[in-house]
Amino acid sequence: MTTVLSREAPHPFALPDGGFRPPLKWAGGKRWLVPTLREMWVGNEQRRLVEPFCGGLAVVLGLVPKKALLNDINPHAINFYAQLKQGLNIKWEMEYHPDRYYEYRTEFNNLIRKKKSNTKRAAELFYYLNRTGYNGLCRFNKQGEYNVPFGTHSKINYVYNFVPYKDIFKDWQFTCGDFQETELDSKDFVYADPPYDVPFTQYSKEGFNWQDQVRLAEWLSKHKGPVVLSNQATEKIVELYGKLGFKLVYRDAPRLINCTGNRAKAVEVIATKRI
Ligand SMILES: C[S@@+](CC[C@H](N)C(=O)[O-])C[C@H]1O[C@@H](n2cnc3c(N)ncnc32)[C@H](O)[C@@H]1O
Repeated sequence: MTTVLSREAPHPFALPDGGFRPPLKWAGGKRWLVPTLREMWVGNEQRRLVEPFCGGLAVVLGLVPKKALLNDINPHAINFYAQLKQGLNIKWEMEYHPDRYYEYRTEFNNLIRKKKSNTKRAAELFYYLNRTGYNGLCRFNKQGEYNVPFGTHSKINYVYNFVPYKDIFKDWQFTCGDFQETELDSKDFVYADPPYDVPFTQYSKEGFNWQDQVRLAEWLSKHKGPVVLSNQATEKIVELYGKLGFKLVYRDAPRLINCTGNRAKAVEVIATKRI
């Protein structure tokens, strides 16, 4: 009897650790924290993973839960993910050139102005701008227009075919709004990664101030299921979560991108309940 070994082609976005490559570059992305979060996720795999601040999806693509609810206040990231869920294949050539960059940035901002930012074209432009712009920043002015300048990169490997994400996203739900509008089920495993308690909070035109940090901590502490929060270990954050009865552990964060694009080392605090 002959045994036929069938070997499937590896998934194009698979990473050696069992996760998948995030499609966008995202300031504050937590890929580096995935090994720690994986330890906390063990035993919870049957739960739905909820990320009220999903950002660049580094965590959900690291843990790869069956079910997930992924929220962010950034409508362009959420539109991009919604398009990936339907199967996105970019058919035009993305060119790394400042002239093209500023043309596409203008087109993208025109779509925002015309309230057409929830379209396939907007998702494609958002991807191009995200990969080509400065430092992977996602910054908007007061009018909600994308104002990141052209970035200097040695080489960009643009992805055109995002269809392989379709299957991964199949049972993941995406929503766009303030974290507090995320509808939690008492059994959900919540991982919250808000903007840091530092001046760089221009992810969205709304920003994220100290009142928002307090509002988040109180909202999280009311959840009945497992909760994990990560933030920069500032004195105020440590005191806030300590007082609410969270267990605190610390990790060295690799680098922090601040408002001028400089990178400095920082300590991360991970606050947990029911883990
Ligand atoms: C540190 S990033 C999250 C990064 C993500 N964990 C990752 O690994 O890519 C913080 C995110 O919070 C989002 N955000 C800011 N204010 C928010 C709010 N009030 N409600 C929900 N999301 C918000 C930002 O758009 C940003 O994507």
